[in-house]
Amino acid sequence: MSPDEEIRALIAKHRSRIAIAAHHYQRPEIVKYADSVGDSYRLAVDCAAGQADFIVMCGVLFMAESAAVMADGRQRVFIPDRSAGCPMADMIDERQLSKALDCIREACGKEAVPVVYMNSTAAVKAVCGRAGGSVCTSSNAEKILRHFLKTGAPVFFAPDSRLGYNTAVGCGLTENSDIARIGSDMNIDGDAQQAKVFLWEGYCPIHNRFTEDQVKTIRREHPGISVIVHPECNYEVVHSADGFGSTEFLLRTVKEAAPGTVWGVGTESSFVERLSSDCPDKTVLPLASYPCADMNKITPEKLAAVLREIDGIIRGGTSAVNEVTVDPQTAADARKALGRMVSVTEANV
Ligand code: 13P
Ligand code: SF4
Repeated sequence: MSPDEEIRALIAKHRSRIAIAAHHYQRPEIVKYADSVGDSYRLAVDCAAGQADFIVMCGVLFMAESAAVMADGRQRVFIPDRSAGCPMADMIDERQLSKALDCIREACGKEAVPVVYMNSTAAVKAVCGRAGGSVCTSSNAEKILRHFLKTGAPVFFAPDSRLGYNTAVGCGLTENSDIARIGSDMNIDGDAQQAKVFLWEGYCPIHNRFTEDQVKTIRREHPGISVIVHPECNYEVVHSADGFGSTEFLLRTVKEAAPGTVWGVGTESSFVERLSSDCPDKTVLPLASYPCADMNKITPEKLAAVLREIDGIIRGGTSAVNEVTVDPQTAADARKALGRMVSVTEANV
């Protein structure tokens, strides 16, 4: 039996018990089997609302962990390849987050509120939850940051310095007076007394490769083109583009655009290729071809294998090598930070 035949057969056999979730960066061969496809925010919310007993997260490990945190006690979460991580999520751990909060307190005499990007481990989200902070994603970072800035407390934003900076500037903050930086050496660069936002030093190795020159080149080569990018790109790229936002925003913007329009898209390249084939009435060009190797680890063969594993469990087996679990205390604390994100995001203000 081919992987596709096996996937189809196992989905048909357990239709009501298994939900397959896929991030927008997944290959088309995976996306076609997904019950829900979305950006990191949509995946977290959909998983929490779902009824299936088994969730298969086709994405990277922090997405599966977030699904496990949001799942009700009965639901079990699996990932087709446990080695599919996110290098940026591993750029801060829970010990560094706690230490950075201590250093900021010592430097400015105020308690900072952590805002951690969804691309972080469950343990980091748990420290954030315990400290009264919130998770954010690229689709709601500005709303979450504005919410905490209104309280007057300084915000510690981690791990993505690019998203943090782009969002802080979007909230009207300026580099020299309002924004400080703190690195893994715990040194603070900037005016700690004045700063409203402290940025950690993480970044996405994929989005960090895009340059302002690439934006200029694509505009020169395709007059009239509109350029949209993901906010994990650096400030120069984001501000030379016509728009920026989450993967959901990029998808919607191109899908809803007028036929015949031409788009340059600065994000993971498998996604841009899929966007191009899904929108044959528009021209969709990658700003540069940078695939996310971790996202691309999920293949039909591995999806078939994880469904086989779940089938075995339903039939009474015990092997669960691809299951992602989070210990109950970490999950409870991380859920507070994810819950704050959902309530601030969904609030009508
Ligand atoms: P989105 O939340 O926009 O889907 O981004 C997740 C991600 O990992 C982008 O690199
Ligand atoms: Fe992580 Fe970057 Fe891959 Fe997104 S594209 S999963 S941020 S490494």
